[in-house]
Amino acid sequence: MMKPIDVTIVGGGMITSDQLLPSMYHLQRTGVVGRLNVCALDSRPLRALKECEDFRQAFPGQDFIAHPSEKEDPKKKFPALYKEVVAAMPKRQAVVVAVPDELHYAGVMEALKNDQHVVCVKPLVHRYTQAVEVEKLAYDKGLFIGIEYHKRFDRRSLLARKHYALGDFGEFVMGEAKMIEPYYYRSSNFQTWFTCDKTDPFVYVGCHYVDLVQFITRLKPVQVSVSGVKGKFPNGNVGYLWANGRVVYENGAILSVTDGLGYPDEGAGSNEQCLRMFCEGPGKTGLIAHDDQFRGVEHSYLKGIGSAGSVFNYINTDFFRLVPWEGSGSKPVGYGYDSVAAILGTIHRIESEAADLPAKESLARRQKIIREVDAQAMIATPANSNTNELVTEAARLSILHDGKMVRIVYGEAPHVEPVT
Ligand SMILES: NC(=O)c1ccc[n+]([C@@H]2O[C@H](COP(=O)([O-])OP(=O)(O)OC[C@H]3O[C@@H](n4cnc5c(N)ncnc54)[C@H](O)[C@@H]3O)[C@@H](O)[C@H]2O)c1
Repeated sequence: MMKPIDVTIVGGGMITSDQLLPSMYHLQRTGVVGRLNVCALDSRPLRALKECEDFRQAFPGQDFIAHPSEKEDPKKKFPALYKEVVAAMPKRQAVVVAVPDELHYAGVMEALKNDQHVVCVKPLVHRYTQAVEVEKLAYDKGLFIGIEYHKRFDRRSLLARKHYALGDFGEFVMGEAKMIEPYYYRSSNFQTWFTCDKTDPFVYVGCHYVDLVQFITRLKPVQVSVSGVKGKFPNGNVGYLWANGRVVYENGAILSVTDGLGYPDEGAGSNEQCLRMFCEGPGKTGLIAHDDQFRGVEHSYLKGIGSAGSVFNYINTDFFRLVPWEGSGSKPVGYGYDSVAAILGTIHRIESEAADLPAKESLARRQKIIREVDAQAMIATPANSNTNELVTEAARLSILHDGKMVRIVYGEAPHVEPVT
């Protein structure tokens, strides 16, 4: 039996609470995950995670070690504490980077420096050169980096990828995608960092569908143009609240992506999202159409326990739910869990196969598996998904220049440049 992998989650926010921590708890049950640390900037989110009634019910007797302690004064900040926690871990365990986007690069580098495998929430980093740098460092050390693009693990995406590869749809030519996040995001922590100079809805959530279209078709994006609509957050900060992007692919196909922070809180939501892709075949066309919002399940509660306090909700049973199972408590189901399990499972497999090998052979074995996973391109890795960083760079350049078309230049030193 291979030893479980110890895990340190850096970041105790929304994604940790909604997906990562409950996934890790279940993976502890299955023997993949061992000791569990969670680090945050201050004790407030850690205390909330500890006191979460859903987790107590779902994972009786399971817990994590909080850094700082959940009893610490919530006003005290610990921006560098995670580095001590990561440095104290045994080598070749796993660090999950789940902090705001601009801290991903530092978090991933810190993990690699301390010989840890990495799970990073999307997007890995914002710059292509950083993606290449972390990829090289990780490979040289035989460490795996998995980027958590969970939409890839939605069964409808997997089926679309399978049939696209078989040629059953024809060749992608024209499509549209949408992801409109709830209005209430505007009054959350978003208002502190979601400013025009840092990000926009295309970069923040449009990236999911850009990644997905490449996952399904394996086509490379070559041009990007993004236009934004600005607005004020409640604290007065100005951000792009809406964005529309156009991505052109190497075969000339075009994807239009509409994103925003404005799905009505009163809506059955909890957000709006969909993908439609038209394809050309010989003498006919093919179609892939996913309604990723309304998946056929409606709940109307007696109390306002739905999204943003609503009572009538469209329920996505496919992403992440804690449901009754044959064991004690509840278990997570859905592509959110499948995605985390796939990445942790790969790290666990790498360490199982390398266990007991002398240092040189161990490194060679780990590097071989990393290249296999890169080539398979099921799990997003820095090597197989760094076009996402190029799209992000192009999108930022474009939106800050009123939607100017930006070209992605591949070759020796891939980069982006405005189309003149
Ligand atoms: N669908 C998705 O894939 C998805 C969804 C939501 C968020 N995300 C990504 O997850 C990341 C975090 O998003 P979120 O919504 O959870 O944010 P959040 O604001 O809710 O939480 C951020 C967390 O980071 C912690 N943090 C900040 N600086 C830290 C430091 N120096 N050391 C330790 N902890 C620190 C904060 O304490 C907080 O707990 C972002 O990169 C976001 O893009 C992905």
